[in-house]
Amino acid sequence: MSPSKAETRRPARLVDRIVHTLGPWGMFLKGFVKHPVMVGSIIPSSDTLINHMLSKVDWDKVDLFVEYGPGVGTFCRPVLERLRGDAALIAIDTNPDFIDYLKRDIADSRFHPVLGSAADVEAIIRAHGFDHADQILSGLPFSTLPPGVGPAIAAATHRALRPGGTFLVYQFRKRARDFLEPHFGQIDDGFEWWNAPPCYLFWATRTGSDSEDQA
Ligand SMILES: C[S@@+](CC[C@H](N)C(=O)[O-])C[C@H]1O[C@@H](n2cnc3c(N)ncnc32)[C@H](O)[C@@H]1O
Repeated sequence: MSPSKAETRRPARLVDRIVHTLGPWGMFLKGFVKHPVMVGSIIPSSDTLINHMLSKVDWDKVDLFVEYGPGVGTFCRPVLERLRGDAALIAIDTNPDFIDYLKRDIADSRFHPVLGSAADVEAIIRAHGFDHADQILSGLPFSTLPPGVGPAIAAATHRALRPGGTFLVYQFRKRARDFLEPHFGQIDDGFEWWNAPPCYLFWATRTGSDSEDQA
């Protein structure tokens, strides 16, 4: 006997109720359950990690800040708090549920959530009227992305940044550095214990004399 409509709908409603009760955490968990490889983590970033990662940014010099993989906006809000009134934040995510959630949840004229891939960052920033980004932040799970995607994103990011601009990366594995080294002339690193799980931080700067800038 096939289940009635009410019976088939019950599990979805239960999931929706749990997601609603947990707020952004529930939304993030739902994203992880649907796309574990793309989301790569079960818990959003901690405040300590956010403050550590953003500590080196000179906000007076930021016209355009780009974020890859914003999820439920854990970094978007702290970035908007620090961003100048006439600057912009473009947040790019491949997950339509996260982008819909961000559009509903953050009302700020400086904020532009975009459904797309970080690999297309150059076209996305051009479509918003910018030539280059000043800072690009990534919460992407580089080491679990499909083959070729991580290197393509690192190369596109180098081209999308202005000389002197920085790629800010937080990752659970040190291997993220392997994606940065072919492109960026200067890479500073750090580590943050106060996050679940603890993670590596990288600040990779387009120096203007990197090998690709000389070609
Ligand atoms: C670990 S979560 C980051 C969560 C969030 N930034 C935080 O700090 O809690 C990784 C995010 O990257 C997104 N993602 C995966 N591949 C992507 C790609 N190629 N371009 C843009 N976003 C991507 C996933 O949908 C997910 O939202």
